[in-house]
Amino acid sequence: MSEPPTDPQVGDGYLDLLGGAGDEPAGPVQSLWESGRGSAAYDHAQALVRRLLPAVQQLPGPARRPPSGATVLDVGCGPGNVTAGLGRAVGAAGLAVGLDVSRPMLARAVRAEAADNVAFVRADARELPFRDGTFDVITSIAALQLIPDPTAVLGALVRALAPGGFLAAMVPTPRGGLMEHATKLLGVRGGLSFFDPDETAEILHSHGMNTVHTRRSGTVLWITGRRP
Ligand SMILES: C[S@@+](CC[C@H](N)C(=O)[O-])C[C@H]1O[C@@H](n2cnc3c(N)ncnc32)[C@H](O)[C@@H]1O
Repeated sequence: MSEPPTDPQVGDGYLDLLGGAGDEPAGPVQSLWESGRGSAAYDHAQALVRRLLPAVQQLPGPARRPPSGATVLDVGCGPGNVTAGLGRAVGAAGLAVGLDVSRPMLARAVRAEAADNVAFVRADARELPFRDGTFDVITSIAALQLIPDPTAVLGALVRALAPGGFLAAMVPTPRGGLMEHATKLLGVRGGLSFFDPDETAEILHSHGMNTVHTRRSGTVLWITGRRP
């Protein structure tokens, strides 16, 4: 972790640790999420899906109801709905931090989801700007598949968890014969990574997590684990 900035850039309502220096988007899908139109389309679509299918919002385990006063990180927070929900759950004594690389996504998050105990940070999940052992809960919903080198990112997430901290990540996962092959082929061209449940569990174990679970639910894979 680098040292905190001496002159923090917070003029847009979030702490911008990348300034003009963000990397090129890591593929066509991520380019969309870093554009004004793409982020607006995503925001409208996710709001509709979450209204019609409230179960989509149900985070597993302690991520669903983090204890009051907990410190929580939401990686790839997009328009910030999940971060804000976590902020409500941890209450005034807690803190929910949403982290994303996309300026337009963060602008939407700040506009719609700002609260006294919710903070947004523009940073790359590949270089998490937090000290080891900071967070009681880390969530990442539909974001890890967009990040090159997800293995290294998973390791960084584990290190950022406090002892006893809980990780809940959701990634899309195609399933079923030919369709699976076609989706993976298109996805890889779009800059997406796909997660094998057993491999992912092994990666988390190799980073020191002891209770790891992976669960497919339709076209998504939930990955959860607790740091000893
Ligand atoms: C599909 S959106 C999901 C947003 C949100 N988690 C939700 O559930 O609505 C994925 C988000 O991950 C972000 N993202 C992609 N690569 C990232 C990276 N390397 N670091 C931080 N965020 C990233 C994108 O900018 C985008 O906002």
